[in-house]
Amino acid sequence: MLRAALKGLAAIGLLGLLVFGGFWTYYFVILPRDLPVPDLTVELTPQRVARGDYLANAVFGCMYCHSERDWDLFGAPIKPGTLGKGGEVFDAKVGVSGKITSGNITPYGIGDWSDGEIYRAIINGLHKDGYAMFPIMPFDVYLYLEPEDIYSIIAYLRTLDPVPGGPYPGRELSPIMTFVANSRVLPAAPWQIDKSDPVARGEYLAVIAGCRFCHTPADERMQPYEDMRLGGGLGMFANGKKVYSANISADNESGIGKWSERDFIERFKAYTDRRIPVADIGYQTQHAWTEYARLSETDLADIYAYLMAQPPVSNFVSPTGQ
Ligand code: HEC
Ligand code: HEC
Repeated sequence: MLRAALKGLAAIGLLGLLVFGGFWTYYFVILPRDLPVPDLTVELTPQRVARGDYLANAVFGCMYCHSERDWDLFGAPIKPGTLGKGGEVFDAKVGVSGKITSGNITPYGIGDWSDGEIYRAIINGLHKDGYAMFPIMPFDVYLYLEPEDIYSIIAYLRTLDPVPGGPYPGRELSPIMTFVANSRVLPAAPWQIDKSDPVARGEYLAVIAGCRFCHTPADERMQPYEDMRLGGGLGMFANGKKVYSANISADNESGIGKWSERDFIERFKAYTDRRIPVADIGYQTQHAWTEYARLSETDLADIYAYLMAQPPVSNFVSPTGQ
């Protein structure tokens, strides 16, 4: 009896070890996927540079994360003279159990990267040196981007002033973080949207600009509660203090259901060229008000159309959680 039980246990142990070993090898040795560097030469046209400027600053937040920000001003606008310089640190202060620094994406930092290497970094999250970057940089949604949008961003990055800065000191990732980073390296999956449908256009923007991610509450593993989508209340750190995202669902009482399209657009445009001290507002935010103020009225109208077409979620939140 005992021998049989022990044998059984040993077998289970061995099986466990094999399964564990298998997972370990898969996630740490086989992954990340070795996705090829596309053979690519992006022609710099004025149209592309202008579109890339708009996308990288107003829509996708590239510049917001890859510059120094003035945390004394509401929405932490980019400090003049640091555009693309990188150096934003993501560590315990913002709830990350390691340390990752955004790199210099001006020609000073990535001037020697090929267009294909930049392309692969944006959509697949693979660094020039082949390792998986940590998905604070949301390449796991950039994989939906249309290639032309990525070409525009690359064209724009090539025109930035080469601001000195970096390379920044080494990354510190816990094993779990390496696991997450390695498993998020995925092939591109450009989102085919019906361009004649404002709701579809708005959804594309809301996903890629991060609106839906930040405005949906999530569990501690950052898995969103889909039945609360757009209902706000996701806690995050802004300059060391917790701030909670607003309910931007169509709910009349706790969300923005009573806002007209005009109200919505005006709310964003109100921050154009404004520098408001945090003390005047009473809290700091992660919502990039100064950058989003540049969103075009048509893009804002599309996002609004998408928000209003989703089920309303009743959830009362205040930015400071009180
Ligand atoms: C939410 C913050 C965030 C956003 C938004 C973001 N990035 Fe990043 N990016 C990072 C961080 C952090 C790293 C470093 C990741 C690592 O080392 O694991 C990084 C790395 C990179 C790199 C590799 C060079 C380097 O070492 O930093 C490139 C190139 C890059 N990002 C370009 C972009 C572009 C282009 C966009 C917009 C389409 C973008 N990023 C949006 C945070 C961000
Ligand atoms: C990095 C996280 C983050 C992202 C990305 C983000 N937001 Fe926010 N948003 C917040 C937080 C936090 C607040 C609450 C504090 C404040 O007012 O800034 C907020 C506030 C708002 C408000 C104010 C609501 C009210 O009741 O006053 C609106 C509207 C809004 N966001 C819409 C959007 C849209 C649309 C997008 C995408 C273009 C977006 N947000 C992207 C975090 C984010």
